Amino acid sequence: MNTEIKPPAANSSSVFRNWISFIGMVVAIGALFAFLLLFVLDALAKFSNPYVSILTYMGVPGFLIGGIFLFFFGAWRERRRRAKGIGPMSLQIDLNNPRDRRTLVTFVCGSVVFLMLTAVGSYNAFNFTESVTFCGETCHKVMKPELTTHNHGPHARVACVQCHVGNGVSWFVKSKLSGSYQLYAVAFNKYPRPIPTPISNLRPARETCEECHWPQSFVGNLDRTFNYFQSDVSNSPYSIRLLLKIGGSDPTRGPVGGIHWHNLPGNTVEYIATDNARQKIPWVRVTDASGKVTVFKTRSFTNDISKMAIRTMDCMDCHNRPSHRYLSPERAVNQAMALNKIDPAMPWIKTNAMYVLTRKYATDDEASNSIASLLTARYPDDARVKDAIATVQQIYSDNFFPEMNASWSSYPDNVGHMIWPGCFRCHDGLHKTEDRKLTIKANDCNACHTILAQGAGADLDQLAPAGQKFKHPGGDYDGACTDCHNGGP
Ligand code: HEC
Ligand code: HEC
Ligand code: HEC
Ligand code: HEC
Ligand code: HEC
Ligand code: HEC
Repeated sequence: MNTEIKPPAANSSSVFRNWISFIGMVVAIGALFAFLLLFVLDALAKFSNPYVSILTYMGVPGFLIGGIFLFFFGAWRERRRRAKGIGPMSLQIDLNNPRDRRTLVTFVCGSVVFLMLTAVGSYNAFNFTESVTFCGETCHKVMKPELTTHNHGPHARVACVQCHVGNGVSWFVKSKLSGSYQLYAVAFNKYPRPIPTPISNLRPARETCEECHWPQSFVGNLDRTFNYFQSDVSNSPYSIRLLLKIGGSDPTRGPVGGIHWHNLPGNTVEYIATDNARQKIPWVRVTDASGKVTVFKTRSFTNDISKMAIRTMDCMDCHNRPSHRYLSPERAVNQAMALNKIDPAMPWIKTNAMYVLTRKYATDDEASNSIASLLTARYPDDARVKDAIATVQQIYSDNFFPEMNASWSSYPDNVGHMIWPGCFRCHDGLHKTEDRKLTIKANDCNACHTILAQGAGADLDQLAPAGQKFKHPGGDYDGACTDCHNGGP
């Protein structure tokens, strides 16, 4: 064979023919290959995530640029060497020379292995960053609250990225930037505790939640019973059975309207919040399917709205805890007592369980030990205390995360109105039109749900299909539920 890759006479040969440029070229080609592969994987994946994007758009291009730099650096160095009259460090391969042949074969095999390893490595890195393990466990301490609550929630089998990033190309850039900031924040221990919400650049629900729950999928009512135990010596039970008017938007499947009215196709509800957590909403604008616009606001709100951020209401304005629900101690203890995991016949157990759960602890272990010793001291000769302790410890580790300051009290839950304003941010009777004639529906306890039954024992067998007046345990009250109820003691 007479093929010869041989530079012409030294001074006229290309300055790129040198080993440094050559290595640069190989690195650049490898990086380009990895980039194309990751790009295709990322684009084809149903759901993308920021970490793959970091790898694809920041990590791999780093190697590409490095390779290109070496390529030109080699040429520059070669030119200087020649200018100084040092002989060319040129790349000469003579296939007739056995040594050159061996070098070339080794090099070609090496390159193939290098490219294959790049492919396997890229693919594995891609799969890993897509997984719940990566999102939830890699930065274990930081994400422990979210991972734990996620695993106990209705979305345990939905991957983190399906809600946090979603599908398609348009969110690449945003998620890439915030993703790399997150990595930085974790690496340098700069993250806030608790992690603040609302997440400012969370993708609109239309492109995440509605991939699985589209508005036409809602229909009918949902029957839920809430069980409570009061804070007296006998832990008096009280229950309320509500028929929640979920409602719907598909007239072929049921009546149109109800709780999901806000998201009916054609309806737009917009609002202004005056605090970061979106708990204070003095101004609401509704545009219906016919284009009619109605503005509701509180009497004291006279601000110039042109300077304020207007948000369009979507699923997350009510379901802001679809996956990370931190039960309040009140709800968790009520639930455990209703299921007999904590025996409701133990005197004062509701009050005592709430007390041990709401003391300050620095770590999960400290909480666990204190819960055991405090309850044992309170019920020294009671065999039932063992189960009670185990249950309360479990409630603590599922819902309280002292290292991250995460618990029910750090994250408002906007579904409901008992311990957070929730629905009553707008449905409080204070939001009216300019002429004060129309009010956003409020005060009617059977507007959003029907009170089917309430009380204890036999009361609960008396169902009232049209709903009944609310009987507040312990007598009537004045004011919003949140004035007195906060989920804690
Ligand atoms: C069903 C959708 C969904 C899934 C699945 C999901 N999240 Fe979330 N996540 C949300 C929503 C909605 C919020 C609150 C957004 C807001 O209030 O702005 C949130 C908030 C967060 C927050 C902010 C702190 C907090 O507790 O609210 C972190 C961190 C987080 N999620 C991490 C994760 C991780 C890690 C996973 C997977 C283990 C995951 N998420 C799975 C929907 C989801
Ligand atoms: C990948 C599909 C998927 C996505 C994305 C998704 N969900 Fe779900 N969601 C489910 C499944 C599955 C269930 C469980 C249904 C069941 O239990 O019957 C569920 C249940 C729910 C429930 C009922 C919970 C309960 O306590 O019964 C709510 C509310 C909900 N999702 C809201 C949301 C919101 C809000 C988002 C967007 C942040 C979202 N989902 C995103 C699949 C999804
Ligand atoms: C005005 C507040 C509000 C908005 C906006 C809202 N929901 Fe709901 N949704 C509720 C309430 C209240 C319930 C019933 C109580 C519960 O699940 O805790 C409910 C129930 C659900 C359920 C369970 C239904 C069932 O039959 O089990 C799903 C799923 C759901 N919503 C998803 C969504 C999605 C997706 C969106 C956005 C398109 C959305 N919701 C918008 C308040 C709202
Ligand atoms: C951002 C403000 C806002 C929040 C928060 C809000 N709503 Fe509404 N809601 C409205 C407005 C505005 C209307 C339309 C008022 C009217 O025309 O009387 C409405 C109407 C309704 C209706 C009547 C629908 C129909 O069929 O006519 C129901 C039921 C309802 N909301 C339930 C809820 C529930 C339950 C929650 C909490 C989970 C909630 N809303 C939270 C603003 C809000
Ligand atoms: C704007 C709609 C709306 C109105 C008006 C309304 N509720 Fe509710 N209520 C809800 C929703 C939504 C929930 C939450 C259901 C859930 O958590 O799944 C709820 C939950 C409850 C609960 C259970 C609370 C808990 O978390 O343990 C009680 C009790 C209750 N409502 C009583 C009332 C009473 C009394 C009134 C009248 C003063 C009233 N509601 C008016 C929407 C409404
Ligand atoms: C003025 C204060 C006040 C207001 C306002 C108030 N409550 Fe209560 N509520 C109480 C007190 C005090 C108890 C008795 C607590 C106990 O014994 O555990 C109680 C008990 C309850 C209970 C029985 C379970 C329990 O925790 O003991 C329910 C359910 C309840 N309230 C619902 C509501 C709802 C829903 C609203 C709003 C519509 C509301 N309350 C408004 C003070 C109030």
